[in-house]
Amino acid sequence: AHPGWPAKLGPLVVSAGSVTVRPVRLRDASAWSRTRLDNRAHLEPWEPTGEAPWEIRHAMSSWPPLYSSLRSEARRGTMMPFAIELDGAFCGQLTVGNIVRGALRSAWIGYWVARDAGGGGVATAALAMGLDHCFGPAKLHRIEATVRPENQASQAVLRNVGFRQEGLLKRYLDVDGAWRDHLLVAMTVGEVPGTVCDVLVRSGRASWP
Ligand code: ACO
Repeated sequence: AHPGWPAKLGPLVVSAGSVTVRPVRLRDASAWSRTRLDNRAHLEPWEPTGEAPWEIRHAMSSWPPLYSSLRSEARRGTMMPFAIELDGAFCGQLTVGNIVRGALRSAWIGYWVARDAGGGGVATAALAMGLDHCFGPAKLHRIEATVRPENQASQAVLRNVGFRQEGLLKRYLDVDGAWRDHLLVAMTVGEVPGTVCDVLVRSGRASWP
């Protein structure tokens, strides 16, 4: 067993509705595929370039192998692959990856939320719950994230939960068909006053159910 996995987080209530975060499941196939296919234009500019075409990579039949690779990373303790639910319905993913323990106790975090579910605080709430989980039950010390300078919405989400900018990574990641610069942001456990969720609640961005 690895600290913090598996876990169900939330709910936390934001203007879009009630947000929960839970481990991905094999039976997410149809919701995952439908959402990913419907949201291609919304997602593709910000995501790692894939080898196969979008339609093939996001067919229902692509979920079981993807799910089992996520699950085996989770079993190894190197990843926490979560689904995000809005009012009980699958609407995106929150992934903690490259978990390294020992004297580093660090990981990256990333997320996506369907366009229809967006604009109402869902990503902010999911990220806040994910961070509190990383710093609490998962016992991590530092979480980082990378974001394209052009991705204003995601930078707003990262700012909402208190990430601090550390630098600009030149030609860092193959995204949308080219090597793209990314901003590196990070947070260590001591920088959080209480919990990230409490900060959101105190500032009026979220509430407990
Ligand atoms: N310009 C500036 N700010 C914007 C824009 C824009 N075009 N669009 C939205 N925003 C702001 C909103 O005002 C809001 O900020 P606020 O809370 O300070 O008002 C914020 O962006 C959105 O916050 P949420 O409602 O919590 O986020 P949402 O649920 O809409 O999800 C997300 C945002 C995750 C970026 C979603 O649009 C998405 O999945 N996009 C495509 C994939 C992606 O970019 N993923 C992130 C990659 S980077 C990473 O994972 C670290």
